[in-house]
Amino acid sequence: MAFRSILLVSLMVVGIMAIPIAEAQLGLGGLIGGLLGSINVKGVVFCTLDGNIGINGTSTPIFPNALVQLQCGNGNVVTTTTTNSAGIFSFALDPLQNILSSLITSCGVVVKTPLSTCNVSLPSIGGLQSPLQYVGNTILGLLNIANLIPSGFRLIPGLIN
Ligand SMILES: *[C@@H]1O[C@H](CO)[C@@H](O)[C@H](O)[C@H]1NC(C)=O
Ligand SMILES: *[C@@H]1O[C@H](CO)[C@@H](O)[C@H](O)[C@H]1NC(C)=O
Repeated sequence: MAFRSILLVSLMVVGIMAIPIAEAQLGLGGLIGGLLGSINVKGVVFCTLDGNIGINGTSTPIFPNALVQLQCGNGNVVTTTTTNSAGIFSFALDPLQNILSSLITSCGVVVKTPLSTCNVSLPSIGGLQSPLQYVGNTILGLLNIANLIPSGFRLIPGLIN
């Protein structure tokens, strides 16, 4: 029993250490460059009719505790999170399972919580949706992060209810 757990742990350690090598060998279209790679999708949901920042800039109210999904293809939910008290959400994605170009062409961010939750004057039906936009890479220690942001939300009637 004890041996089995030790073996399992050893296998897991080997597995973790093998990731950078596998990625370096695959190359992943120049995204990784020998570093451990990650894809980060990050944005802010604002409490406005279109979910975007308003004319008053940083004083635009934000949408906290909103359920946010990364959806690909025909509404396939890849991962889910909620916005924090500053309206910020983020997803960390594995580049081995997610190809940057297809994230940009066929995936998007969907806000599942109705806008009326953050402001009763806003619609209680329809959901916010935004495509994704690549904004460059960040090197953080051994981590090479490809950054994606929502390119602009839109209220889609009938999207969530
Ligand atoms: C922008 O700020 C001004 C001054 O505080 C305020 O009167 C106005 O209603 C605000 N506009 C929006 C769209 O929030
Ligand atoms: C709620 O939304 C309405 C309609 O967009 C807007 O006029 C109002 O300023 C908002 N209230 C708050 C507290 O943001």
